[in-house]
Parts: sequence; structure tokens; C-alpha cells
Amino acid sequence: MQSEYRQRREQLMSKIGNGTAIFRSAPTAVMHNDVEYNYRQDSDFFYLTGFNEPQAVAVLAPHHAEHRFILFVQPKDREKEVWSGYRCGVDAAKELYGADEAYPIAELDEKLPQYLEKAERIYYHFGRDRNFNDTILKHYQSLLRTYPKRGTGPVAIEDSSLILSSMRLIKNKTELDLMRRAVEIAVEAHNHALQITTPGRYEYEIQAEIEHIFRLRGGMGPAYPSIVAAGRNACVLHYIENNCQMQENELLLIDAGCAYGYYNSDITRTFPVGGKFTGEQKALYEIVLEAQKQAIAEVKPGNAFDAPHKKAVRILTEGLVELGLLKGEIDKLIEEEKYKPFYMHRTSHWLGLDVHDVGIYQHGENPQLLQPGQVLTIEPGLYIVPDTQPAEDQPAIDPRWAGIGIRIEDDVLVTAEGNEVLTAGVPKEIEDVER
Ligand code: GLY
Ligand code: MN
Ligand code: MN
Repeated sequence: MQSEYRQRREQLMSKIGNGTAIFRSAPTAVMHNDVEYNYRQDSDFFYLTGFNEPQAVAVLAPHHAEHRFILFVQPKDREKEVWSGYRCGVDAAKELYGADEAYPIAELDEKLPQYLEKAERIYYHFGRDRNFNDTILKHYQSLLRTYPKRGTGPVAIEDSSLILSSMRLIKNKTELDLMRRAVEIAVEAHNHALQITTPGRYEYEIQAEIEHIFRLRGGMGPAYPSIVAAGRNACVLHYIENNCQMQENELLLIDAGCAYGYYNSDITRTFPVGGKFTGEQKALYEIVLEAQKQAIAEVKPGNAFDAPHKKAVRILTEGLVELGLLKGEIDKLIEEEKYKPFYMHRTSHWLGLDVHDVGIYQHGENPQLLQPGQVLTIEPGLYIVPDTQPAEDQPAIDPRWAGIGIRIEDDVLVTAEGNEVLTAGVPKEIEDVER
């Protein structure tokens, strides 16, 4: 893996020329009072270093005569390590993480300027750590003040996140192997959930069994708070209470993904709690499934990022008209976004180190074009939120549809030939989700 991180740093350095890039580790998060959450490194920091401790700074200075990659880390400290875990320490940061030079984090102010004073600009992303943002500004301003004495030094701070996001958007084999494992574990969990769901059980029981499998198989845990939503709960897009008892005639919507080796999967399936769809549930499900399949067919190199979304919206709108939930001419309904009360979110996002991964979606007027190595979700849905008031020119919503919420979500890799549905191992055909 070290050669992988080194390659990424080289790629970044080739893009920043005479600049110096600075990356800050994620802060330790407090759960409540002084109890800490599991530590999760900042994705950019991890992508470039593989280093997963807090209180660290990585510096890339391609123009520096001796040190191109510098790590500032927490020093070894027996007493603190007893409480919070073993630290890599300064010496091992060079050996294990390939730094040309490493220093204790406390020496940042003293040592950083030598890596900046010949740089033409600083690459840095102003993040949530206000104190560290101030530290960067302080050094920048100080070097600007002394610029006349040297005739060198940074005269701009450029955001580093755009460069990183264009790199992270294309996944290589190493990354895809990790994503495939994150997918494989979540596929097993979803299939298990389908087996064990019966009327009378509680949503949290299903959540517990899913997340049990995530950890049991070596995953870091859920990629995001698992959504296990029966009946009308499925109409709440981010329902995470998961505390209701499931009833015979309800659908169960499960949106759960696994984090593995810092990479994520993101899968949604919807199936009948009691084993058989009602007529209304089936009619809506067929529309979502068709929209999802046709959207997936739009995933191929050269197509616009939003081609799957446009296709999904068209199929969903046509379906809603057929069922009498919308009325009017399809193109006009789409243009006026009349589908929005039933489909209020987008069809896709990038997936990777972050669940909603970095990567540009739109370049001004032009959408991002799909390229091999990108991974995106395809997740259309229909939600007949109870008490939805129809628009003025639209029909009243027959109560028999109310409270049905459906989403089907797969993770799709763009390949040279078209696409690969990474999450194909979880069934979604009606005959396969009925029991
Ligand atoms: N579960 C988050 C998402 O589907 O985007
Ligand atoms: Mn999801
Ligand atoms: Mn998603």
C-alpha cells in the first residue's frame, strides 16, 4: 500500500509545481462529555498518506531540495498511549509512511516556514478547524511580510480540494478491490435482512443484524446511519430512528452500506414485510425498478453525469401518469418538475472514500462526462408522503397510495464498455424479493 500512497503524492506534486501543499488530519470527535468516537481520518489525508492518527499535518514540497514529503505527528508518549492507543511516533513516521522528514507536531510553527519560503503558492483547503486555518494564514502573512528580503515565497493560497477531488474521482484497482469488499459485505447483510424480516419484528432488529455482519466481516461499521424504514417511515428520506414494529402489509426500505478499509458501499432495497406486495405497492415498485434499470443503462463512458437522472425522471413521470397520480403531457410535467412531490432527490452521487464522494458534477453549462473508473450510485425512488397536497392542476391523491415509499439503489462502476453493477448480488426483481 505504501507505494500506492507514494504514487498519489507524486501525482499531486506533479500538479502543484513550485507550490507547497498542506493537509490537516481530522480532529478527534467527542461523542458526549469526554468520551471519544472512533477516530476516522480525513479522507484526503488518508488518500495521500494512509496515516490514521489525529494531530498530524502532511506537507508536500516538490521543489524542496531535501524533503518533498514531511509529516508532523504526535510523538511517542507512554502515558498518553496507555489511554488513547499506540502512536506511530516521529521516527516510525519516516520508516512506515515514507516521509523524507518527520517532526513532532509541536514543532510545526518552527519547521513549516522552511517548506514554504521558496514555494510560489500554498495549496490548502480551509476546513472546519478554525485554529489550524489561522495557523496557515499566520504563516502566509508572515512570509508575505518578509518576501522583500528573499524575493521568494507564496503569493496565493489555492484550494487543494479540487485537485484531490479530480484524483479521487477515478478509482484504481487497489481502491476498487476495497470497494468490492465493502460491497460484498453489504450484499451479504442485505440478503440476510431479506431472509429474517417478518411481521412483528422491529426495525432495529434488522438494523442490528445488518450491522453485526458489517463488523463480523471486518468492516469498520456502517458507512452512514442505516435506514430501516417500514411502511410510511420509508417516506422520510433520512429516517434513522428504526424503532417501529413491522406490519404484515408494509414494505420495508433498507438503505445500508458498509465501510471497509475506508471505502464505502451504499445499497437500498425495498421489499414486502409479509412476503407479498399489495397491488399498489407492486405497481409503484415496477415503475421504480424500471426507472432504475434504464438509468443504469445510461451509465457509460462519454454520457453526461445526469443522463441516468434524466432517464429515471422520465420513466417515473410516465409511470405516475399511468397510475393516475399525475396528469398531463410528459415533457411538460418533467419541465415543470411535477414529479417532485413524489421524487424529491437526485438519482446519483459519486461513491468512494466518502459516501457522498468528492468530484465535480457540473462544469459551468456542461455536465461532467462519465469515465471508466468512476463509481456512482443509481437510486431512484417514489414516495407517496401521507397528506401530500397535489398541485392545482393535478389530481387528488387516492388514499390507497398514501404512505408507500420505495427506493432501489445500486453502486455502479463505469467501465470501458459501459458499466458494472457492483451490488448486483442483492435481488431486486419482484419474484426474487417476494417470499
Ligand atoms: N444513504 C445515503 C444515500 O443514499 O445517499
Ligand atoms: Mn443510500
Ligand atoms: Mn446513495
